[in-house]
Amino acid sequence: MQAKVIAHSNIALAKYWGKLDSERNLTAVPSLSLTLDALRTTTHVQFDESLASDELVLDGRPSAGRPRERVTRLLDRVRELAGMQTRARVTTANDFPTAAGLASSASGFAALALAATRAAGLPLDLGGVSALARASSASAARSLFGGFAALRAGAEQAERVAPGEHFPLVMLVALTATGPKDVGSTDGMQHTSRTSPYYPAWVEHAPRLFEQAHGAVLERDLPRLGEAMEQSTLMMHASMLAAAPGLLYWVPASLRVIHEVRALRARGTAAYFTMDAGPHVKVLTAPADAERVERALLDCDGVERVVRCQAGPDAREVQG
Ligand code: DP6
Repeated sequence: MQAKVIAHSNIALAKYWGKLDSERNLTAVPSLSLTLDALRTTTHVQFDESLASDELVLDGRPSAGRPRERVTRLLDRVRELAGMQTRARVTTANDFPTAAGLASSASGFAALALAATRAAGLPLDLGGVSALARASSASAARSLFGGFAALRAGAEQAERVAPGEHFPLVMLVALTATGPKDVGSTDGMQHTSRTSPYYPAWVEHAPRLFEQAHGAVLERDLPRLGEAMEQSTLMMHASMLAAAPGLLYWVPASLRVIHEVRALRARGTAAYFTMDAGPHVKVLTAPADAERVERALLDCDGVERVVRCQAGPDAREVQG
């Protein structure tokens, strides 16, 4: 009745922002991501007859409130599928700052969905586990798959697009500030869809950028992929900025990194930026240029650390 799992976070190359159905957590736009080796969540789930309620220990600290409610909601679905009532003890740890726009919910719910189904003895394949993770956090659906993964608009589960070896890339995560973000993704996208006049335009144009990114991954075309990723990022953030009140995740250092990436490109280095619901900037580049780009990012005022990532593997069960 227990299982331990490692799942890797992912960064969207074509962004998801907005829901078609918030009850079922189905996405309004298609998204495409790269799963990252260096950002990992390890989660242990143990179903235990002696527990009166589910317990959550997050990064070494007992956790209640909303994080535990979201965990219980996923466990309830697993219990329903397995026909059992037993409560569980969940111990989870990230090797990167939680809730700082580094997609901890992606690897977190992917790891939880896989660990809980394995601990309950449910014979779901990765696609089935992806559907379970998606109901809790849509970006988590993509983290079950290593390499490149896609989640289509309205889809139940993510799909594998290509393994990481198909198109070796480096994602440099420039950490500009740590600490919890102001508005989480779930609330941020609901606020955007309710109040931003640019939200319908985002939903209309996102599929074209997804198709461009998808084709560019299959054809191993970094400039085409990078252009789609930057446009997807800027269009998504434009929709947030136009909400009322506007959602602004950028800090001065984020802008400095973006300008540096454009300056690198003007000098002939293929480097492209993306941002999520937080101040950090992630920069996509070729392995041969990674060293140079990393040095340039570290020189930007306000960048505290750069985490160098390559494509990561599927979520998987581990011993212990
Ligand atoms: C900006 O998957 O965290 O990182 O489904 O409400 O849990 P919920 O949202 P979440 O949103 C991620 C948004 C994003 C872009 C992306 O990862 O595609």
